[in-house]
Amino acid sequence: MEETGLKRLVVETTSLCNLSCKMCVKNTFANGACSADGSMSEEMFLRMEDSFASLESLVLNGVGEPLLNPSLVKFIARAAAKMPSHAQIGFQTNGTLFDADITNNIIDAGANTICLSVDSLNEEFLINARGVGIATLEKALVNLNNARDRSGRKNVRLGIEVVLMKDNFMELPLIAQWAINNGVSFILVSQLMPYSRLSANDIAYDTNTQSAIAIYKKWIQKAETEKLDFERYYAAFMRFDVRSDEKNLRLLNLAKGMMAEADSEGVYLHVENLLKRDEEYLSRVKDVLTRTEALCNKHGVKLTVPEIAPRNTRRCEFVEENTLFVSYDGQVSPCYFLWHRFNCYIGAVENRVVPWLIGSLQESTIEEIWRGEAYQKFRKEVLKYSFPFCFDCSFALCDYVSEENFQQDCYLVEVPCATCLWCTGLFHCLY
Ligand SMILES: C[S@@+](CC[C@H](N)C(=O)[O-])C[C@H]1O[C@@H](n2cnc3c(N)ncnc32)[C@H](O)[C@@H]1O
Ligand code: SF4
Ligand code: SF4
Ligand code: SF4
Repeated sequence: MEETGLKRLVVETTSLCNLSCKMCVKNTFANGACSADGSMSEEMFLRMEDSFASLESLVLNGVGEPLLNPSLVKFIARAAAKMPSHAQIGFQTNGTLFDADITNNIIDAGANTICLSVDSLNEEFLINARGVGIATLEKALVNLNNARDRSGRKNVRLGIEVVLMKDNFMELPLIAQWAINNGVSFILVSQLMPYSRLSANDIAYDTNTQSAIAIYKKWIQKAETEKLDFERYYAAFMRFDVRSDEKNLRLLNLAKGMMAEADSEGVYLHVENLLKRDEEYLSRVKDVLTRTEALCNKHGVKLTVPEIAPRNTRRCEFVEENTLFVSYDGQVSPCYFLWHRFNCYIGAVENRVVPWLIGSLQESTIEEIWRGEAYQKFRKEVLKYSFPFCFDCSFALCDYVSEENFQQDCYLVEVPCATCLWCTGLFHCLY
């Protein structure tokens, strides 16, 4: 396969889970999960076998706990036999099922990258959020370290993923230190995707874009120099006799200047959301990330941190890095965002996301789907990055992007990426 071939596969070996984490997409619809429950059969897994020889990475989880698929060890062995020796084979896990036997079997079969979900060291928080205590996670890491040492394989990497939230972000340096003490070599930190209205209050990031914030801060500074209170902008704007008050008038002119600058730079400003920014909170999040970076650098641990506001320059790592996502039943999607059905709530906007399917292993091989017109057309369109960004838009979400059957956005782009935050650097997963 040439350079432009499929390089990464993320395969949902099962959507079954033995936990019910509060924040998880599985548990956010009052009337049921984001997808039906099921596990991938061996026969379905082998339909991807032709692509293994050229893969750089095979991640064996989606929504669900991969260790609940009884064929997981077989999948790993089969893939490892065909994949290049430098390739990554692994999965993310809640860590509850790692007894010594299964851990040895998984590592011996050829898995080399295991990422444990650890959102806190606080027992009460952990039990409440995930239903699993710290002793279970520690035991999983002990068994994983033992299995790695026993195998003698130098390329086995253990890691953790932490999802940042209002109630755990302060713990991050402590969690990182705990992970380092427990033999971990990489740490992934992701922001929270709020799958429920309630959890939208738990995020540790800003929903205004980085460029919007920069412009806003510059003009706040100007207002301060002119002894104007920018926070009164809305009140001033709403007054009928606005022009009879000299201070209000100056405030409105200042706001006009800010809008004109944003316009000239092609940046949208959502003034209401900008006025709601909690600068102090966000700078505490930033400080925690900086301290964790220093700690991980000192110990040679690879740390991946999220942005604390969406980047304006978008980059879709899934499309850029030639990845496909396969559900347990063989349905194929182009990215994490468009893999499952869910609602999410960002900037007080409800976004109803439906899977974007580009093929099924029931009808085609993964190679055929990769090369097929549906995916190649999608890919070409995404890589132009010409879709709008809905969260800065005062019409959000308009009919274009809230219809179940998406056709195009307001720029007439035919891929449903305008409501996606994955390409702005907020979220990370093992990949
Ligand atoms: C969906 S889980 C599947 C694998 C496995 N069951 C686990 O928990 O690690 C994959 C990762 O997504 C994270 N996750 C769950 N809910 C999330 C959310 N609302 N936003 C961001 N990440 C989330 C989990 O903590 C985990 O690290
Ligand atoms: S263990 Fe993973 S898949 Fe299961 S509910 Fe928790 S986050 Fe979701
Ligand atoms: S698609 Fe709709 S919500 Fe999105 S930017 Fe365009 S008008 Fe706004
Ligand atoms: S929706 Fe987001 S993650 Fe999916 S292809 Fe578009 S930009 Fe990439």
